[in-house]
Amino acid sequence: MASVTQLNPGRGRAAARAPVAGAGGVAAPLASNDALVLEGVTRAFGALRAVDEVSLTVAAGQKYAILGSNGAGKTTLFNAITGDFPPTEGRIRFFGEDITELPPHERIRKGLRRTYQSSLLFRELTVRDNLFLAVRGVASGRFSFWRARAGSASVSATQELLERARLTHIADELVANLAHGQQRQLEIGMALAGAPRLILFDEPAAGLSPAERRELVALLRSLPAHMSFVIIEHDLDIALAVVEKVTVMHNGRVLKTGTPEQIQNDAQVQAIYMGSHH
Ligand SMILES: Nc1ncnc2c1ncn2[C@@H]1O[C@H](COP(=O)(O)OP(=O)(O)O)[C@@H](O)[C@H]1O
Ligand SMILES: [Mg+2]
Repeated sequence: MASVTQLNPGRGRAAARAPVAGAGGVAAPLASNDALVLEGVTRAFGALRAVDEVSLTVAAGQKYAILGSNGAGKTTLFNAITGDFPPTEGRIRFFGEDITELPPHERIRKGLRRTYQSSLLFRELTVRDNLFLAVRGVASGRFSFWRARAGSASVSATQELLERARLTHIADELVANLAHGQQRQLEIGMALAGAPRLILFDEPAAGLSPAERRELVALLRSLPAHMSFVIIEHDLDIALAVVEKVTVMHNGRVLKTGTPEQIQNDAQVQAIYMGSHH
């Protein structure tokens, strides 16, 4: 009944080769229509409760935004979800499974990905080679997490990522020569390796020109319907263009959760959040 993959992660090539996304007969336990459920998630650093009893639910396939000014706790919330800085209180469920205690690489194996505020690209390699490394599992996030398909399958998976990230025209360019927006696109492309079920994007639009923002929005809107993502975004217009649900954080806590329209028209949000940006 219980699969070898669950009991013995990392043992044996056959198990390691199983797709992360749940295809291929590896049934996820307690399958759920909710991709991500946070219940009272708290992350303290000494006396500081950087994330303070945050509860929210991201449905499977849902596109979700976290808004909030600098220091609100958005990145710390991502760190709690990925396990980089696990919660000090509260529970995290991923497709019905409690992952609160899992190490980061186990969460990655289950189909959770993230991008970082600071770039983790290989600047002296080409766009294509960066994506190839992600496909091979050596460059997704900070962890080597699975041995991907060998040879030509990796090459075609790399090509698929190039297209999905809208980077085919600069496939053989060195990353060091890319514009800022193209690097953001590449980071998203790398996060897409291995058919993730949910991706956390940490401020992908930061520092982008208006044209680059439009390209980013187009990329985010082109992601598969079944894939969930949570995007940290300062620019409400971008959030409005790509998400169905928004949580606004303030001082580590949830200030408000609602549709983009509800958030945009909320007086408290306007006073606290937009007030600091416009
Ligand atoms: N590793 C850490 N150690 C101590 N304090 C931290 C750490 N990471 C974040 N913080 C603090 O937590 C608060 C929230 O930070 P952060 O989550 O980065 O905010 P945001 O991403 O919303 O700008 C800040 O006061 C920050 O200084
Ligand atoms: Mg941050």
